[in-house]
Amino acid sequence: MPEVNVALVGYAFMGRAHSNAWRQVSRFFSPRLTPRLKVICGRDQANVKKAASQLGWEEWATDWREVVSRPDVDIVDVATPGDSHAEIAIAAAQAGKAILCEKPLANDVRAAKAMLKAVRKAGVTNMICHNYRRIPAVMLARELVASGKLGRIYHYRGTYLQDWPVDPSTPLYWRFQKEKSGSGALGDILSHSLDLGRFVLGSEVTEVAGALETFVKRRPLPEDPKRKGRVTVDDAALSLVRFANGAVGSIEGTRLATGRKNYNRFEVNGSRGSVAFNLERMNELEYYSREDDPKEQGFRQIMATEPSHAFFKAWWPAGHIIGYEHTFTHTIFDFLEAVAGRKRVKPDFEDGVRNQLVLEAIERAARTRRWVKVAEL
Ligand SMILES: NC(=O)c1ccc[n+]([C@@H]2O[C@H](COP(=O)([O-])OP(=O)(O)OC[C@H]3O[C@@H](n4cnc5c(N)ncnc54)[C@H](O)[C@@H]3O)[C@@H](O)[C@H]2O)c1
Repeated sequence: MPEVNVALVGYAFMGRAHSNAWRQVSRFFSPRLTPRLKVICGRDQANVKKAASQLGWEEWATDWREVVSRPDVDIVDVATPGDSHAEIAIAAAQAGKAILCEKPLANDVRAAKAMLKAVRKAGVTNMICHNYRRIPAVMLARELVASGKLGRIYHYRGTYLQDWPVDPSTPLYWRFQKEKSGSGALGDILSHSLDLGRFVLGSEVTEVAGALETFVKRRPLPEDPKRKGRVTVDDAALSLVRFANGAVGSIEGTRLATGRKNYNRFEVNGSRGSVAFNLERMNELEYYSREDDPKEQGFRQIMATEPSHAFFKAWWPAGHIIGYEHTFTHTIFDFLEAVAGRKRVKPDFEDGVRNQLVLEAIERAARTRRWVKVAEL
């Protein structure tokens, strides 16, 4: 298969997850393009050099501008904090590269829209990394909704709960600084629950109410733990939402749900049945059908690991479960296929802007304590 050269910007958490996926994708799937891990980029020379060798990249660099304009780079993968997504992605689009970008697309609607404009103008393949869409059990939930088996959809209930900064001595990382991250739990994790709601229901959010709260207002500075700095983002974000299909929902993201590590759960209730999913048991989908014999009705647990479930044929025999890292491999496989066919792949930058419009509406609703209509794209 023809090779494509990939440049990855960012080498920490998502940098490692994406590197693994770029390395594995051709070993388990047969994409029409074979990715070559050409160059990884970060700001710290010693660290990026180490990352290149550990994660399997041929070269390393410290200036993303030089990297995205290299004629031998075909794909740019953006895995940096939100404040740099727009600059990097717009430069990559102008240089004609296909772009995979981490979520949230940008730190505000204006930057997200500028990114969408740039990729449309350049006509390049673009994708936002909402990797949870490509979990086989989540794809089954969407199929059940689309098939009508759940009937008319009444509720979407999404919660994304973590507790990693519950200790107030957790330093003031970039994730607590609005100018770097745009928002807190809202853009970081509620954005995933929101995207899952739009994906599983196949319907847009039209109106929201919201509440944001920052409980730990000051945290130690990473470079000088004796001094503290102000937290400028939310710890917790909650929203009531209305979907275009008439369903109502609640979406919650918090980093202070003590004891919850990565509890990304949703439930959909319809007139004929319900489904429920929890990332911490990501190979399973709970399904309830009112059509079952009344004596046998109850939630049943489907192991979404059969060859007939999405992506599973490429991995293991049924019941031999997959994990977090596979979600990125699936995402990158579909992205590569889109690049090969010069086709659109979902979720793309348009989805990124749509999500950002809802996040912005939630912020406004929280500020004004009123319901807010989500702006048109
Ligand atoms: N899809 C998911 O499930 C998921 C999970 C975690 C994070 N994310 C998203 O991924 C992105 C990165 O988060 P992370 O957890 O990997 O953060 P991180 O702090 O672990 O890593 C950030 C990386 O970006 C580099 N970097 C920062 N600013 C840079 C710049 N201006 N130029 C070049 N490199 C720069 C840092 O050196 C580091 O390598 C964020 O947008 C975040 O929201 C997505």
